[in-house]
Amino acid sequence: TGYVTLDIGYKNTGATKSAITFLDGEQGILKYRGYPIEELAEKSSFIEVAYLLIYGELPTADQLKAFQYELSRHTLVHEDMKKFFDGFPSKSHPMGQLSSLVSALSAFYPESLKPSQTTEELNQSIIKMLAKMATVVSWIYKKSLGHPVIYPQNKYDYVTNFLYMTFGQRTEEVTIDPVVIDAMNKLLILHADHEQNCSASTVRIVGSSDSNIYASVSAGISALWGPLHGGANQAVIEMLEKIKEDGGDTDKWIAKAKDKNDPFRLMGFGHRVYKNFDPRARIIKKACDDILEKLGINDEVLEIAKKLEEVALKDPYFVERKLYPNVDFYSGIIYRALGFPTDMFTVLFALGRLPGWIAQWKEMKENKEPIGRPRQIYVGATSKEYVDIAKR
Ligand code: CMC
Repeated sequence: TGYVTLDIGYKNTGATKSAITFLDGEQGILKYRGYPIEELAEKSSFIEVAYLLIYGELPTADQLKAFQYELSRHTLVHEDMKKFFDGFPSKSHPMGQLSSLVSALSAFYPESLKPSQTTEELNQSIIKMLAKMATVVSWIYKKSLGHPVIYPQNKYDYVTNFLYMTFGQRTEEVTIDPVVIDAMNKLLILHADHEQNCSASTVRIVGSSDSNIYASVSAGISALWGPLHGGANQAVIEMLEKIKEDGGDTDKWIAKAKDKNDPFRLMGFGHRVYKNFDPRARIIKKACDDILEKLGINDEVLEIAKKLEEVALKDPYFVERKLYPNVDFYSGIIYRALGFPTDMFTVLFALGRLPGWIAQWKEMKENKEPIGRPRQIYVGATSKEYVDIAKR
């Protein structure tokens, strides 16, 4: 039935028209709604960038205040959610917990299930999704420690509140270091959107069947989990630790990455679209040096990462294939310096990517896009006769 173009992995297929994020892979340019990522990472806050991505323009001071206020009214998560959250084994992977919890939000906030929401209802779903995500992420961290969850304090802005719920204690006053707040804002901004990547495309395609926002975002979280996508940030630190334990011989590990008979890949290297450099990686590398210095941390794996990058960028294998460090190469070193355990890294990526997923989901709805439904080229058997089971 008709002509089907084959493009496995959608390497050359535009799935939508979008006005959210501009990405030039040849020149290493990334812009959100026309604003260069470098400028946003330097001057903006995560919640301002979230507003920009979702609503299309930077907020005025009043709009930002109203947005922040709306978010602060929805930071609590229904107490009954804890009952099934308690059932997760304490060592289960945070990404599995996160996708399940986000999907479960639809059971507690069922108004999101209405397929044709008014603009106001849609906006309420967006606000709830954003506000509750930070709370849920902090729960997951607290559970890993065996500590009680901390309730939100709505006097704080979004990022400070998240850090407070994560690193705060019920037993004593905790002040969050402004260096940590700044670093977190920067990292979340750098992860906030990246046009039609695997998880954003998943969110759009799930949402295109009129699934609710929680189900769509939960699917995006599952897509992000894999080590070829967001899971790379955890894989990078595990790789660097392994290289450190192995004596720090970077040449040996570069050779392994090049060996086609060895499944090992240099994690945090390479990108489907960037073929020159990843502008996010440049910013993160510099931020990594600054933040570790400000926090007075000396992490041996940072030196190993820099050495790997140096060797790889001179190696013909990586040069010919245009493989450069991506956003995940240095981000984990910062997360670790801020006090997060390795298996929380991809959850932090999800927290950062959430405004992007929401913006993509909202744009898909506003554009009234049809249900996403790719075709295939069938290569199986064409005609077979059914044989009774006794005769097979
Ligand atoms: N180490 C060694 N070789 C690599 C690597 C790597 N990290 N990445 C790509 N290659 C090789 C690959 O083997 C292939 O070689 P050949 O042409 O000889 O077969 C060539 O480079 C092209 O790679 P590809 O896998 O066909 O490219 P892709 O666009 O399908 O995949 C990628 C992109 C990001 C999945 C891949 O580069 C990769 O697996 N990188 C490591 C995982 C990673 O860091 N992922 C995070 C991506 S950025 C953040 C995000 O998306 O969440």
